[in-house]
Amino acid sequence: MVEITAIERFKKFFGMEPQVVAVAPGRIEFVGNHTDYNGGFVMGVAIDKNIAVAVSKRSDGKICFANSSTGEKVSLDLGEIKPLPRSLNWVNYPLGVFKYLVEAGLKADFGFDFADASNLPKGAGVSSSAAIEMAACYAFAKLYGFSLSKKEAVIIGRKSENNFVGMPCGILDQGVSCFGKKNSVVFIDCKTEEFETLPLAPNCKFYLFNSTKKHALVDGLYAERHRECLEAAKILSEGGKERMLRDFTMRDLNAKKDKMSETVYKRARHVIEENERVLLAKECMGAGDMASLGKILFASHESSKNLFENSCEELDELVDLLKMQKNVYGARLSGGGFGGAVMALVSDDFSESQAEEVAEKYGQKFGAKPKIFECFAGDGARIF
Ligand code: GLA
Repeated sequence: MVEITAIERFKKFFGMEPQVVAVAPGRIEFVGNHTDYNGGFVMGVAIDKNIAVAVSKRSDGKICFANSSTGEKVSLDLGEIKPLPRSLNWVNYPLGVFKYLVEAGLKADFGFDFADASNLPKGAGVSSSAAIEMAACYAFAKLYGFSLSKKEAVIIGRKSENNFVGMPCGILDQGVSCFGKKNSVVFIDCKTEEFETLPLAPNCKFYLFNSTKKHALVDGLYAERHRECLEAAKILSEGGKERMLRDFTMRDLNAKKDKMSETVYKRARHVIEENERVLLAKECMGAGDMASLGKILFASHESSKNLFENSCEELDELVDLLKMQKNVYGARLSGGGFGGAVMALVSDDFSESQAEEVAEKYGQKFGAKPKIFECFAGDGARIF
């Protein structure tokens, strides 16, 4: 259990039991690719794999983070919290959360010691950053006796990632890591920041196929897509009050097509149609129509591939191979894209040997096999 590992590590690093342990899961982006920071709709699933954070009060004004893989300790004064250099980025995720908790009213009259542990699949695009932010947020709040709602925790996590780590992400990752529920999907209206959990049909599960490929410029490309979407929204808003892509229809977009570049048009079209797909997917889930739901997942991938252009050959191949397998409802790239993983929604009958067959064929084409993980929808952030 990852909580036990975090406790053991804490004891090894700091020579005593931690006072608080919190845990938060990674997530799969179910459908709604790059819709979140456009104020749109998105659905995600918290997986049954987590990051655990163990903390204790110190008697002085220092805060001390122990690196779980190297054992290195990073110490700083409570009074000098600012983003650390990139080589120490692992500290920035929880540190940013702490800073914004203090800004929100947490009274930091003593420092803390911090250690963590993870059983999330590495590099599979399940957002370990949101998991650590949410686990840290719950742990700090409990340690300092500060109460906040789930929604407030999510907003603090995102703020930290946007302003402290410097990644212009939306609210999906933190929202799902916090609001996740066993056997459920989290539906988010990113404009109103409202969260809802919808039951997942019984007898289904998820498979992640991690291509292990990652574009060298992935952060820059994400930021570029973000800028293109904002540009589209700006053009569409001209002559009225500024609105987000979520507020426009394909009719609005087509009416202003000649005012934007072909690229910006494609990005906006993807987001507008993807929002429609998410709402449709929600209806299909309500009606238990898994076949139509699966088609929407495949359509979402096509749109990411052709319009948003954040897929790659490897992910496309995985989706194509999965499409040919029985017991697969749908598959699509999950998360930011430009490499990473494909998620497949499959029925209980989908077997390990089918997953292996996909991996084998992929390996014949690309030399190395993808990493495969089976996962289930699990619970969101909590105190252990
Ligand atoms: C990353 C970001 C999310 C979201 C997805 C794309 O996972 O962290 O906020 O934008 O990409 O949908």
